[in-house]
Amino acid sequence: MASSNRTENAKLTLNGTTAEMPVRSGTVGPDVVDIGRLYRDTGCFTYDPGFTSTANCSSKITYIDGDKGILLHRGYPIDQLAESSNFLEVCYLLLNGELPTKTERHEFDAAITRHTMVHEQMTRFFTGFRRDAHPMAVVCGIVGALSAFYHDSTDINDPEQRRVAANRMIAKMPTIAAMAYKYSIGQPFIYPRNDLDYTSNFLQMCFAVPCEPYVVNPIVARALDKIFILHADHEQNASTSTVRLAGSSGANPFACIAAGVACLWGPAHGGANEAALNMLQEIGSVDRIPEYIKMAKDKSSGFRLMGFGHRVYKNYDPRAKVMQKTCHEVLDSLGVHDEPLLKVAIELERIALEDEYFVEKKLYPNIDFYSGITLRAMGFPVSLFTVLFAVARTVGWIAQWKEMIEDPEQRIGRPRQLYIGAAPRDFVPMNQRG
Ligand code: SDX
Repeated sequence: MASSNRTENAKLTLNGTTAEMPVRSGTVGPDVVDIGRLYRDTGCFTYDPGFTSTANCSSKITYIDGDKGILLHRGYPIDQLAESSNFLEVCYLLLNGELPTKTERHEFDAAITRHTMVHEQMTRFFTGFRRDAHPMAVVCGIVGALSAFYHDSTDINDPEQRRVAANRMIAKMPTIAAMAYKYSIGQPFIYPRNDLDYTSNFLQMCFAVPCEPYVVNPIVARALDKIFILHADHEQNASTSTVRLAGSSGANPFACIAAGVACLWGPAHGGANEAALNMLQEIGSVDRIPEYIKMAKDKSSGFRLMGFGHRVYKNYDPRAKVMQKTCHEVLDSLGVHDEPLLKVAIELERIALEDEYFVEKKLYPNIDFYSGITLRAMGFPVSLFTVLFAVARTVGWIAQWKEMIEDPEQRIGRPRQLYIGAAPRDFVPMNQRG
């Protein structure tokens, strides 16, 4: 259902001029005031650093209600998708708007499976990196290089090329991520296998070695698949907005996804899962938690509880609830019962949720708080956590990119500013300067 115009307009009176702006309602959630003609009518811009009150597009893909802790993908609640669907089916849903029929599902799986290999020449890029390079640096570089190999799916105006590029990105990201991991530990790259499902294939590319057969642990595979679902898309977050802005210039989809990878790396965003685990390791034991809670409440310390807080969720992140349950399932299935970091995380969450500072600021655990403990128990190094986030988020990025390209309202993104620099002045020759 498209957005609809409300009957009454919003009015803004400025410098004796009253501008009328249409108000549009979506299917659910806040209305928007269309300010597209505000500058023309009043000579003023709006000002909203961080875009706390700004919608940069209309979208049908994901809906978040931060106050109620609701997350829907094409209308389906995240907890139902995590419990009853699987990652590739959610990929199909995000890309196409509906859950696939059995035939559509089979065809989509086959298409993704047959794109999982990367051009053999790409293996040479890895040798240009130091072994101890952060895997996100490697993945960012390799994804950007994809456009040098797949020219036949870079014409953004061709729907078929957009479809192929989307499938290639979803299919190749796990392969590139696994190659970055193997390169970092000095082991040979493991090729994808067409007889395995998406997540099992990723696990074998990460953890198999040529010297012996590798058996996928079905519990770990199911848990990782669920984690991929939880990270798949999240409305107009920083990295998705980066992909949309890059795409608005007509850049090819591989370059846009590389921009999304770069933005996701930041510790305030996707890098928080790595930072949260490092924080739990630094705290180390339950008795040191009060010291860190005190620091988190002291702005001058510059310390924040990583994995806590969210721009949109002012209630519990619904993904964090599923993540916490998955964490317990994985640790139990792997027989990891005395995981000290889990004890620290559970106690830290309990204390923070009772503390006036966090209650007043509505700071709750977000998806990154428990994911690190789970991923580490699965055998992934901390440095790979944000890469795993990027593997999952690739479908969200490419679905949002595709929607933006197909949106008749979209033009090149070009924000304005409030200029607070020097007033106009004449050039001063060197011999007249102080
Ligand atoms: C992700 O946007 C998305 O959807 C992102 C994401 C996705 O799926 O794409 O959900 C993934 O990025 C999750 C967030 C991961 N980041 C972290 O866990 C890093 C720690 N959290 C933050 O730095 C912070 O909470 C943000 C970045 C997540 C949100 O920042 P905002 O909305 O700009 O909030 P803010 O920085 O203005 O904080 C509001 C107040 C501030 O105090 P006041 O200035 O109002 O007095 O809360 C305080 C902050 O000092 N605060 C924290 C805190 N987070 C916010 N204090 C201590 N610890 C924290 N973690």
